[in-house]
Amino acid sequence: MSVGGLGLKIEGLTVVYGGVTALDDVHINVPPGGFVSVLGANGAGKTTLVRSITSLLYLHKGRVRRGSIELGGESVVGKKSPEIVAAGVAQVPEGRKLFPNLTVRENLLCGAASRSDLGGIDESLEQNLELFPQLRPLLAQTAGLLSGGEQQMVAVGRALMSQPSLLICDELSLGLAPKIVHRLFELLTEINEARGTSILVIEQNASLALEHAASAYVLELGRVLMEGTAAELRGNPMVQELYLGGGGEAHTSYAAIERPRGGRPAGGGR
Ligand SMILES: Nc1ncnc2c1ncn2[C@@H]1O[C@H](COP(=O)(O)OP(=O)(O)OP(=O)(O)O)[C@@H](O)[C@H]1O
Ligand SMILES: [Mg+2]
Repeated sequence: MSVGGLGLKIEGLTVVYGGVTALDDVHINVPPGGFVSVLGANGAGKTTLVRSITSLLYLHKGRVRRGSIELGGESVVGKKSPEIVAAGVAQVPEGRKLFPNLTVRENLLCGAASRSDLGGIDESLEQNLELFPQLRPLLAQTAGLLSGGEQQMVAVGRALMSQPSLLICDELSLGLAPKIVHRLFELLTEINEARGTSILVIEQNASLALEHAASAYVLELGRVLMEGTAAELRGNPMVQELYLGGGGEAHTSYAAIERPRGGRPAGGGR
């Protein structure tokens, strides 16, 4: 079980895929033990942000052009992904990315690949089965045959097997029934509170994320457009209109809404 959380500090991050700028001067701060969310519509740059932190941009022909990413006060730009894992970061990737032909047990154990304490790995497996009792009878089942909700539990469980100090979840809610998603978010809150694990959730489901996170950032077209505490963002009319299903006329983006004089809204980006 991890003790304490790892802080993440991103400043001025600009990421490109060839000629396409996917992130532009982005800043994000996750304090140690914090629970932070990044909200944004399709194409906002959310997954690119995750790839930047986990040093997996190269798999997608992307690169950091400018900016800094610090984990626990140490710069990690240019480090290899095993070093990021060793620093205490685990991710639940977009689309779960389980090994469909391996069993649930094998998938979970993959998450412990960086560990050498064999006794501790058994203990973590047991802890996972206490968090997700539905998985116990499915341990020998092939992961590809599970329901979407069960697969997402395996994906979260796999990430927890490395005893992360910072857990990053990319679109945990995608394609899942509301009841299952709510349960998963409750579990994240429990993990955050009981273990002190820092949590960064990347979400399109803003109401869910703002219910559980302490603070959040709104990304649009690769830029941070708003940030604040969850309560501030829940009360922000633009967030309500764009991400919480409120408002009258439909807008497709923040940019389509007339800005108040003086630029960004209250609680907006710096
Ligand atoms: N491998 C790539 N090559 C070129 N452009 C890319 C690549 N991956 C992402 N992009 C572009 O970068 C931008 C951000 O994409 P990203 O996948 O980070 O967004 P996202 O917020 O995660 O979207 P979604 O909600 O659909 O998952 C988009 O314009 C996308 O087309
Ligand atoms: Mg994405």
